[in-house]
Order: sequence, then structure tokens, then C-alpha cells
Amino acid sequence: MRDADAVASWPVEIRSLDPGDIDAAHDLQVRAFGPKSGDNMRARTLRTVEEGRMLGVYDGPRLIASAFYHALDQWWHGRPVPMGGVAGVCVSPEDRGRGVGRRLAAALLDLMEGRPLSALFPATAPVYRAVGYEHAGAQHLLTLPPEPLRTLAAGPVKVRRAGPADAAEVTALMRRLHAEARHNGPIDRGETFMRQVLEDEKVFAYLADDGFLAYGWDGGPEALAVHRCVAGSPETARALWAVVGSGSSTALTVRACVEPDDPLLWLLRDRSEDEVRRVTWMLRVLDAPAAVAARGFPEGVTAEVSLVVEDETRPRNAGAWRLTVGGGEGRLERDSGAREAVHLPAGGLAALYAGVPVATLRRAGLAAGGEAADPVLDAVFAGTPYMLDYF
Ligand SMILES: CC(C)(COP(=O)(O)OP(=O)(O)OC[C@H]1O[C@@H](n2cnc3c(N)ncnc32)[C@H](O)[C@@H]1OP(=O)(O)O)[C@@H](O)C(=O)NCCC(=O)NCCS
Repeated sequence: MRDADAVASWPVEIRSLDPGDIDAAHDLQVRAFGPKSGDNMRARTLRTVEEGRMLGVYDGPRLIASAFYHALDQWWHGRPVPMGGVAGVCVSPEDRGRGVGRRLAAALLDLMEGRPLSALFPATAPVYRAVGYEHAGAQHLLTLPPEPLRTLAAGPVKVRRAGPADAAEVTALMRRLHAEARHNGPIDRGETFMRQVLEDEKVFAYLADDGFLAYGWDGGPEALAVHRCVAGSPETARALWAVVGSGSSTALTVRACVEPDDPLLWLLRDRSEDEVRRVTWMLRVLDAPAAVAARGFPEGVTAEVSLVVEDETRPRNAGAWRLTVGGGEGRLERDSGAREAVHLPAGGLAALYAGVPVATLRRAGLAAGGEAADPVLDAVFAGTPYMLDYF
């Protein structure tokens, strides 16, 4: 028997993690990712299990792998789309390389039924690519000295410290800012998560009428880390970044999680070389018509394009579709496939949805045929998605 056949016929069972196996799941996670400082980790895992968001792979009674997803929203052209943020994928070291990771990743797609999208930060891409994820966006970490930030503030903008009692206001503000700026990619973890952030004594949070800053001393030796600094106006952006820059006497560096086209880059007085680290994330379109219907599209762009999708893992997505866009809305409906169509594998559809230019998709082998539609597809999906959070 070939190795591949042995893998395919290995009679493992994939099912909801048994709450009695939480310690075994933690052991797998420690072996995979290293020791975790366990502040209420057990309670969080139990909640994940109870909410049906965690899978275990069993070889008889033995737990050999586990994974879960966060129930999130992700902003696409200023609209929130329900997204499953996959995390904690781990296979027991002695059982790796036998196809378990891939089968677990495929089973997670079914578990996230009802969510049009899934995203994840891959430690290794092939496992996820095999089930239709593709590189889509990044977390952008800008390193810069604090001094140019210190001198940014121009006029008096009221900025106050924010605490747990402000969780609802901060959550609503972030939503408003993402919608107004028609952002692509940032995730929304909800008010409860925001309250936990604001309770964290290591996080210094500041709030203005149209802006929010969260930063702390966890950027490395003598480095401040800016988790987010989002503002709706230049005055507020200047005021919030200047709070960070006020640490210039004790911090050598600022490591800031920013938008790829963050207004800060245009507010700085001087700039020549940017030092940006990109931590990439992958996207999977789980339900193509729902993913198109839920997101926003650029006002003023109208389109009607034929697509043919190949998707073995989610056959419901496969086949001929007609994409119609107008008035900021989109629809994906079944098509006869008679006209010249753009052919996309599942990964190509994910990357297109995320705004990867069609010329790039073609040269990466992720799109073929129907070349006449390229300019309009680029206009429909234009954007450089990002995330401010890592999960
Ligand atoms: C990554 C991990 C989940 C993969 O599980 P696995 O059961 O060993 O993977 P599979 O046998 O199903 O392999 C699936 C594909 O991924 C590839 N792959 C697996 N581990 C890999 C690695 N470390 N680096 C690169 N590719 C890898 C395999 O070659 C295979 O590709 P192919 O289909 O093109 O041959 C497992 O190695 C693990 O738990 N690692 C430590 C934790 C981790 O990195 N988790 C991922 C977090 S996003």
C-alpha cells in the first residue's frame, strides 16, 4: 500500500471536541505552539467547545489533533461579513505528515456552515491551500522612531483615557470608522472582547470623538507597540499618535499595526524608506453567493461578468455564475455558462474577492479565460485588505 492510500484509509474520527478532552487539547497546543500563560484559558476553551466551534480528531479514544474557529465579522468595503477565524490547528507530533491536518482543515469548513467567509494566519500554507484558502491580506507592522510622532500634534483635540466602561462606545466607533472609510479586511471581535482589551492593565487606551488608540510596552526591548490607532480626521490622528510619541524619551522604537495606506504615512513630516513587516493571512470563500451579497462594492461601478468556479471541497460553490454589481451591491446567480467566462479555482475566487489584481491571478495560475472582464473585475474588487488583530 502506498503512503497516500494508507493516509486516506486511516480510520480516524473527526467530531466536536469532548469537553473531557480539554486538557488533552491543551497538551497538543503546548506541543505545537509552546507553553501559554494560561489566564482563564480553560474557561475560554470550554466556551469554544460549548458553542460548537472546536473539533477533535480521534484515533479510537486518543485525541490526535484539534482546531477551532472564532466567530467574527470581517469588514469588506465598509460592510461586516460573518467570518470564521480559524486558529489552534495542531496535530500530535507523532501523527504529523499523514494527512490529518488536511482532513481537519476540510472538516472545519463544514463546521463553519452559515458563515460566508473564513480567514486564518497560516504557520504553513499548504495545508490550507489544499482546501481552498489563498493568500489575501496581511497585518502590516510599521517600525519607526517615536520622535516624529511626538511633534505631530497640531491643535487641541480632546483625548481621554478609555477603560472597560467604554467598551460599547469604542466598539461602535470602530464600526463607524471602518464603514466610513470603506475598509477591507479588519475584523470585529465584538464588545466583550473590546472590554477585555480595555481591562488589560498592559494596554493604554485613549478615546476621542472620532478616534481610538491602544498601545503598550510590549513591542520588544525599549519598544512601544501600537495595537491600533484609528481616527476619522487628521486632527485626531495627530493627537493620538502624539500620545504615543510622547514616550520618545524612554522608547527607542515604535512598532505600529497600521493600515497599508495608513493616513499616518501622509501625516509624517518626512519619510523615505518604510520598514514594514507583513504577516500574511489567507481567505476562504465558504458560500460564494452569500459572501458577494454581504459585502460592499464601490458605488458607481457596474459590472456583469461570467465566472466558472472549480471547488472540490465546497461543491456548492462550483459551476457557472453570473456576477452582477451596481449601486454598491453585488449578486452572484447561477448562469448557463454560455458566455466567455473567467475560470477560477477556489483559491483564485478567494484572492479575487480580496482584491488581488486579475493580472496577478493569471500569472500565478489562479485565473484563466475571459480576459475582457479583467478591468471591470479589478474595479469591482479593488482594495488592499489588512488586519489590525492577530488571532
Ligand atoms: C501544520 C500541521 C497542522 C500539519 O498537519 P499534518 O497532519 O502534519 O499535515 P498533512 O499531513 O495533512 O499535510 C497537508 C499538506 O501540508 C504540508 N505540510 C504539513 N506540514 C508542513 C510544514 N511544517 N511545512 C510545510 N508544509 C507542510 C504537507 O506536505 C501536505 O502538503 P501536500 O498535500 O502538498 O503534500 C502540523 O504539522 C502541526 O500541528 N504543526 C504544528 C502547529 C502548526 O504549525 N499549526 C498550524 C497553525 S496555522
